[in-house]
Amino acid sequence: MDLEIRNYRNEDEDGWVRCRTLSFLDTAYYDHVLREKEVYENPSIELVAVIENTIVGLLDIEYERKEGTVCSRGNGLGGMIWHVAVHPDFRRKGIGKKLLLKSQEISNEIGLDYLEAWTRDDEWVKNWYELHGFQQEESYLHVFIDGEELSGVMKSDIPHLHPVGAFAHYVGEDNDAIKKKFKRTHECFCYKKKINCE
Ligand SMILES: CC(C)(COP(=O)(O)OP(=O)(O)OC[C@H]1O[C@@H](n2cnc3c(N)ncnc32)[C@H](O)[C@@H]1OP(=O)(O)O)[C@@H](O)C(=O)NCCC(=O)NCCS
Repeated sequence: MDLEIRNYRNEDEDGWVRCRTLSFLDTAYYDHVLREKEVYENPSIELVAVIENTIVGLLDIEYERKEGTVCSRGNGLGGMIWHVAVHPDFRRKGIGKKLLLKSQEISNEIGLDYLEAWTRDDEWVKNWYELHGFQQEESYLHVFIDGEELSGVMKSDIPHLHPVGAFAHYVGEDNDAIKKKFKRTHECFCYKKKINCE
């Protein structure tokens, strides 16, 4: 199997969407499905991993020209990893690592100081970031609120409009209480990696 890591091209969009959708099905982001690829406001590094004309991996980083315009925190110029994914049939073969190494090489050339990434509570994905030198920083909760759970959380002032679900961020101190109250919560972790620091 010949693997090529190269820049994303417009004609890759279908393959990119398919690869991303399948790659997230067994993660805590299973229902965060995109039907087209985003276009970033800021410059970006957009890579794909290709085997026999099929996209089996992808990595997107949107990066800063001015500090604080893309990333949430940190000193210097940052790059935000919006997507990194490897098709489930091609995992644990070093494809994610190759995408990351290539993106770091480009980040170094551009002069970025650090990369930032956010991920939910999939231990194996967190392990992957940590294995590649990312350090865990803050976290907060993603809360999916459904049916009767909405009582006391949200009500509509619009006649005949009845909310049936909500998605919320919880940034308080009592994670345990929130996890107990709502059936679906995910801890969302920020990871950082310094680059360009030799
Ligand atoms: C995270 C991800 C990009 C890694 O890509 P990959 O090509 O499978 O990873 P690599 O081959 O570079 O690295 C493999 C290492 O990562 C860890 N890892 C990856 N998948 C794992 C799994 N399912 N279970 C346990 N460890 C796993 C292990 O440390 C593994 O090393 P090992 O096989 O020697 O034990 C890929 O698993 C993926 O697409 N995950 C779902 C999408 C996602 O959550 N993206 C990040 C959030 S935005």
